[in-house]
Amino acid sequence: MIAPGRCQGQCLFDETAFRFRVSAKMRSVLIHGNLMRPDPMLILGIETSCDETGVALFDTDKGLLAHALFSQIDMHADYGGVVPELASRDHVRKLLPLCDQVIADAGCTRKDIDGIAYTAGPGLVGALMVGGSVAHALGFSLGVPVLGVHHMEGHLLAPMLEDNPPAFPFVALLVSGGHTQLVRVDGIGEYEMLGESVDDAAGEAFDKTAKMLGLDYPGGPRVAALAEKGVPDRYRFPRPMTDRPGLDFSFSGLKTYTLNTVNAAIDAGGFSEQVKADIALAFEAAVVDTLTIKCRRALEQTGCRRLVIAGGVSANKRLRAGLEKMARKLKAHVFYARPEFCTDNGAMIAYAGAQRMLAGQQDGERIVAVPRWPMNTLPPINEARRTGLVD
Ligand code: KG4
Ligand code: ZN
Repeated sequence: MIAPGRCQGQCLFDETAFRFRVSAKMRSVLIHGNLMRPDPMLILGIETSCDETGVALFDTDKGLLAHALFSQIDMHADYGGVVPELASRDHVRKLLPLCDQVIADAGCTRKDIDGIAYTAGPGLVGALMVGGSVAHALGFSLGVPVLGVHHMEGHLLAPMLEDNPPAFPFVALLVSGGHTQLVRVDGIGEYEMLGESVDDAAGEAFDKTAKMLGLDYPGGPRVAALAEKGVPDRYRFPRPMTDRPGLDFSFSGLKTYTLNTVNAAIDAGGFSEQVKADIALAFEAAVVDTLTIKCRRALEQTGCRRLVIAGGVSANKRLRAGLEKMARKLKAHVFYARPEFCTDNGAMIAYAGAQRMLAGQQDGERIVAVPRWPMNTLPPINEARRTGLVD
């Protein structure tokens, strides 16, 4: 059965869809009490929320064993964006072979797998259903637990896969194609929303700006590359919502400002490659400044001295540099994943799923697919069963 997408604010899971049960691997924790670390688990992670098929194997003792990604970018590029039906069909074609490749790359067999984590949302419902169906079918055939994972929690925890991972608590800036959020994170599943975009996400603004500049999808990395050739301060774009208190964002006005600047350059007969690069740089600088100002406020407001950035836009070099410069002044530290784990990937889902499965969490018999899913409705995992990352 499918748990259909539900609107924000409603209860997302009933007890049968998302519950805690005692799995074989958890028995040692329950028998020996909370101070005992659970047995290691080998978790297969599956990401199919949008246009990338991502698979990874994460061992809770040894770390990430293998991962692979198939990007559908070439297929969608002709359409200037993701075509949901094409995305689902391609996940069907690629997912199982990719699982087998990752299992082989890790030197394992399917029988070694202790649990399967898949992205249950937010995302495109058809694409989510492919990952959920494959995960549940594999889990059923192998007799192992299966868990639907929140995509943005996956992004949020991706920096934990790097050396020197951040300890809790921290402030997280989540910047992807669909989300721009500032979150106070006190532990896995302990999320306080500090601010978010009231309209477009930062990644969406990058993608729309790319279209205006005649660049292909996905636009973010292309705008960033073009901005490298821009002359600083040829244009100055607004820093939306920074002149008033609060931690919310708005990027749709910046998008309109960019469009007006492009049209004015075209009307004046001066929409040259250099002008495009100058506009790209002005846009990128405005986004980076805006995000940096809000992150500084969030650090000051919470007293946290750790800032995690995650999601596709966190791969942006100018953003990383801007945030690091700001953080140095506050004696704070910035944490982020390697670029391939900033954008969608299976490793972050395997990691997030592994942490929750170690705490005994698993799906019922139903495939969970939730296109819209607020992250602060997730249940916290038990403090004592975390992986020792608390201060
Ligand atoms: O997290 P992600 O891979 O997928 C979603 O969950 O949405 O993020 C994709 C977004 C796209 O909007 C893409 O243009 C943007 O991240 N992006 C970047 C960069 N790399 C990816 N934006 C700015 N600079 C980059 N280097
Ligand atoms: Zn994503």
